Amino acid sequence: MRIDIISVLPELLKSPFSASISKRAIEKGLVQVRLHDLKDYAIGRAKRVDDYAYGGGAGMVLMPEPLDKAISKLKAEREYDAVVYLTPDGETLDQRCCNQLSLKENFMLICGHYKGIDQRIREMHVTREISIGDYVLSGGELAAAVLSDALIRLIPGVLNDETAALSDSFQDGLLAPPIYTRPAAYKGKSVPEVLRSGNFLKIQQWQHEQALKRTEKRRPDLLG
Ligand code: ADE
Repeated sequence: MRIDIISVLPELLKSPFSASISKRAIEKGLVQVRLHDLKDYAIGRAKRVDDYAYGGGAGMVLMPEPLDKAISKLKAEREYDAVVYLTPDGETLDQRCCNQLSLKENFMLICGHYKGIDQRIREMHVTREISIGDYVLSGGELAAAVLSDALIRLIPGVLNDETAALSDSFQDGLLAPPIYTRPAAYKGKSVPEVLRSGNFLKIQQWQHEQALKRTEKRRPDLLG
């Protein structure tokens, strides 16, 4: 998988890829992440990337020309399966969407900043618009990091235990069941007996029941 991210603040995106699972995936060559600074495509003597919104209102808008240049340059180098704009008015990201996207190879992620990007860029280049939730961030960078993280961990070979992603919350439409590690008793609270029984079938049954109970209580909407 290759992820190209265009941003006015690429430095915001360095740390999410320099630790843990994403870092290992990059080191193993399973994913390539490239950060592109929109300021390298700034225009005019003032080297601008943003301007006031037509129609007035507070907040700056990323101008079409620097974005068009940056996107077109990348598109000339390779085919993209998706050109994604991170925006609070996009489709809400969920695990189903992540599973589907994780099958693709090349992504371009465009991060808005301030008020967002010029509508014409959305019409000319963007193939998918994704929101990470019903709240507004200062820019798309953190959303791009969230989306990338959710995709990278689904690439085969990234997680050490291949089944780890399968037992995540949402992966089977349910929240994950409670989990425990050693010690078996801590401050008077014990790990459920069944988990220590060694009976794999019983353990699975218990985990499924717990997942169902938790989902009914916390997210009944998932049970449709
Ligand atoms: N940019 C600003 N807020 C956002 C959100 N909730 N999701 C994706 N991109 C965003």
